Amino acid sequence: MITGGAGYIGAHVVRAMTGAGERIVVLDDVSTGNAARLPAGVPLVRGTFLDRLLLDRTFAEYDVTGVLHLAAKKQVGESVAQPLTYYRENVHGLGVLLEAVVSAGVRRFVLSSSAAVYGTPDADLVTEDTPCRPINPYGETKLAGEWLLRATGRAHGLATACLRYFNVAGAAAPELADTGVYNVVPMFFERLSAHEPVRIFGDDYPTPDGTCIRDYVHVVDLADAHLAAARRVATPAGTGDLTVNLGSGTGVSVRELAEVVADVTGRREHAPVVRPRRPGDPARVVASYDLAAKELGWLPRLDVRAMVESAWAGWLHTHGERRG
Ligand SMILES: NC(=O)c1ccc[n+]([C@@H]2O[C@H](COP(=O)([O-])OP(=O)(O)OC[C@H]3O[C@@H](n4cnc5c(N)ncnc54)[C@H](O)[C@@H]3O)[C@@H](O)[C@H]2O)c1
Repeated sequence: MITGGAGYIGAHVVRAMTGAGERIVVLDDVSTGNAARLPAGVPLVRGTFLDRLLLDRTFAEYDVTGVLHLAAKKQVGESVAQPLTYYRENVHGLGVLLEAVVSAGVRRFVLSSSAAVYGTPDADLVTEDTPCRPINPYGETKLAGEWLLRATGRAHGLATACLRYFNVAGAAAPELADTGVYNVVPMFFERLSAHEPVRIFGDDYPTPDGTCIRDYVHVVDLADAHLAAARRVATPAGTGDLTVNLGSGTGVSVRELAEVVADVTGRREHAPVVRPRRPGDPARVVASYDLAAKELGWLPRLDVRAMVESAWAGWLHTHGERRG
């Protein structure tokens, strides 16, 4: 069962899993997702993972053997304004889902986590041993979710994996693209589409060009990692718990990203404008993916240009050529 399979990342995971011949069912309340992202033949159960009766019915009806849990609330700013909603969905809701998992005898569980668990890490390359110090309720709920899953896994004999995504971008096809404007790539597209300059928050960081450095991972690579994790938790080697970073291992500065975006879109009407730093933005966050490579046999393959090109094709598909 894939929760959140109608969402941006979930739809890519659905595609990777079905492409590899896995039989799946999607549980999604379609609150931020889109059922049209699902390929024909994939059953969609519409509803929330907080609904215990629905979970019990779905596990029985589809003979569920494992769960990939991607459904969650994911906006940092919203989590500051509505912490109760974030704790209810991302922590309490995970608890409801795990109760159903334990009661149904399901033994494999893969959780979407986030680099937000690290907060503002002080490390050149962030490893899974870098201290977790989230700086907003969203990151807190992701970390608490990991704790809850690991403890439940140990107590009830589940094989578990927590996947900490860094900045996810790109699309496998235009109709699968991210339609939210919460990450930097769609934010840049939105500005360019409105004939406004893109904004860079701070150019006085201790980095080579003074702008923040981040790690962007292609959603197609990320989806492949889910397939690898789903298979690992199904093997004897996969018992116990695994927590891995999923990033590209490559740092790209905001200014470099703006340059790739200008190049791909051909929009060079305005140069980027620099605004003051935003509170809580670390200078550099780049993943080490060594552990994912070792444990999952996973390597990121697609670069930032491929991400921006496919994301732009998706933006034009969603917003229309003219507005785009
Ligand atoms: N997008 C990123 O850059 C990023 C980075 C790190 C982690 N993540 C994590 O990846 C996961 C997927 O994110 P996304 O970008 O695809 O978001 P998304 O909003 O596109 O997808 C979330 C999906 O979950 C569904 N959903 C939400 N609440 C639900 C509920 N209570 N019951 C059933 N379905 C529900 C939504 O309808 C949607 O289809 C989340 O757990 C998020 O925290 C995302």
